[in-house]
Amino acid sequence: MKYQVFISRRIPSAAVDLLRENCDLDMWQEELPPSRDIFLEKVRGKQGLLTMLSDRIDRGLLTAAGRQLKVVANYAVGYDNIDLAAAREMGVAVGNTPGVLTETTADLAWALLMAVNRRIVEGDRYVREDCWKTWGPELLRGYEMAGKTIGIIGFGRIGKAVARRAAGFGMRTVFYSPSETSEEFPEWNALKVDLDTCLATADFLSLHCPLNEQTRSMVNAEALARMKPTAILVNTARGAVVDSRALYQALKSGALAGAGLDVTDPEPIPLDDPLLELPNVIITPHIGSATYETRAKMAEMAALNILHGLRGESLPYPVLQP
Ligand code: DGY
Repeated sequence: MKYQVFISRRIPSAAVDLLRENCDLDMWQEELPPSRDIFLEKVRGKQGLLTMLSDRIDRGLLTAAGRQLKVVANYAVGYDNIDLAAAREMGVAVGNTPGVLTETTADLAWALLMAVNRRIVEGDRYVREDCWKTWGPELLRGYEMAGKTIGIIGFGRIGKAVARRAAGFGMRTVFYSPSETSEEFPEWNALKVDLDTCLATADFLSLHCPLNEQTRSMVNAEALARMKPTAILVNTARGAVVDSRALYQALKSGALAGAGLDVTDPEPIPLDDPLLELPNVIITPHIGSATYETRAKMAEMAALNILHGLRGESLPYPVLQP
């Protein structure tokens, strides 16, 4: 008999084929995710769940699935959407997709940084709105990047990939990371510092930490007040790492020069959010890992996590192995 698996959104077909051999798949086909009620219905009786970072996998949902549930494979490296304590208690394995989205996400952080600093979206709008009448000595200026300092909060795979890019741009890196044991990475001109120093010395600040109780609202009014008024903040990590009201105030008052956000809190950002009124903010819809290659690899890893979990074997990419 085949295993029963729910996939909460359409995923690349090679991964679906991989699963189909051993599983009866119920794959949600709509563009928008299932409502909570439908989600609770869909998971009932399933042995495997392949879930998105936007799905809330809490105790209620795990309970609704039932005692036969063996594995939750998140189609993401982040897993702050999953109640790990509940999964542990219920003996459910949890997997993620580390490594394959490192370069892709670092690219997007860099794209946002460049776009905000060199005012790409503003410039495009300026042209389309027929404002471009002449070359202007003071038109749409940003800051030079060579010789500047990038601050990186969270120095795991993605943070390091951003530092590597910064070295190529002739920049120095300061990083804040309680879990990083090395004090410096001379090959990238990168130095470990405390949080205050990171905030105060950064000309550009990029966030690459997971969302947890230590990092929630870490970039709050106090932290923003420590930053240079010419600095630009980039967030490709999780929206809730930043206090968005405080960010709005800092950007509006000129205490911060600009922000590039791939993640917001909540997601999607409501259209009446005041951040959307600011010209010095670029917001993208959580597309850090959105390349064809990366999304295919993530799907394959999630599928492998499901298959191993269903067979009661160790997950190849585990977050939690009961
Ligand atoms: C992840 O995998 O956690 C990323 O946020 C996806 O872009």
